[in-house]
Amino acid sequence: MKKYIYQLSEEEFYNFLLAYKKGVELISQEENLITFATYEPVEDLTPQAVQEVKIVPQERIFRPFTVGSFLIHRPDLIPISVNPGMAFGTGLHPTTKVCLRLIEKYFLPGWTALDVGCGSGILSIALAKLGAREVLAIDIDERAVEETKENAKRNGVSLQVKQATPADLEESYQFLVANLELPIFEKEATHIKRLFSVRGVFSGLYGGDDLEKFLKLFQDHKVVKIVKMRGWYGVVLEK
Ligand SMILES: C[S@@+](CC[C@H](N)C(=O)[O-])C[C@H]1O[C@@H](n2cnc3c(N)ncnc32)[C@H](O)[C@@H]1O
Repeated sequence: MKKYIYQLSEEEFYNFLLAYKKGVELISQEENLITFATYEPVEDLTPQAVQEVKIVPQERIFRPFTVGSFLIHRPDLIPISVNPGMAFGTGLHPTTKVCLRLIEKYFLPGWTALDVGCGSGILSIALAKLGAREVLAIDIDERAVEETKENAKRNGVSLQVKQATPADLEESYQFLVANLELPIFEKEATHIKRLFSVRGVFSGLYGGDDLEKFLKLFQDHKVVKIVKMRGWYGVVLEK
């Protein structure tokens, strides 16, 4: 494929864009001179250069960006807006990232879902946006419950949010996500097991030792997938 590089003054460029009615790749803007590229020759314009280009996936070209307060992104991306406040869950921590990756792959739209230790609510919001029929978000911490409620509103999704531990719940969900820590899994394992009926995503396990102990704890479940990100493990289990 060939890339045709052109230079026009700012005024000429905007007039050209109006007439051209297709997208162009903006390369640079210096003073009054705009350099841009098209992927076909433009009639009546002489290119500065013609380059051979490799096909690159769209997601590598069009990355999300901000202009002032606006966030512009491709339509296939799922935006999640979070204010973590005092709760855990900006999406930057490897354990949250691991959960988001695994949720995207192993959760099916239409399932009911339980998020144990919701923090900011980021994982519950992801589940709701992926088409969960019902999401219950629980956390032991009152501030996390408040943040999750606020963040749900901010994202226009409907979540049930409760200050609770797994021991307080009776109903079982098709899918469960829990980004906790080994000592909490050890304490809550019996309840966690009875609270999901199909598949669960678990994270918050640091190093091989944690992973081994966790797998022993859930040895009555089928291990579907184990992933590792910067020393943190994520595990997908099935009944
Ligand atoms: C590591 S954060 C995860 C937050 C968010 N889910 C994420 O992935 O970014 C763990 C959360 O679990 C909560 N938590 C700890 N023990 C819990 C328990 N026994 N039952 C429910 N929530 C618990 C903490 O208050 C904290 O908000």
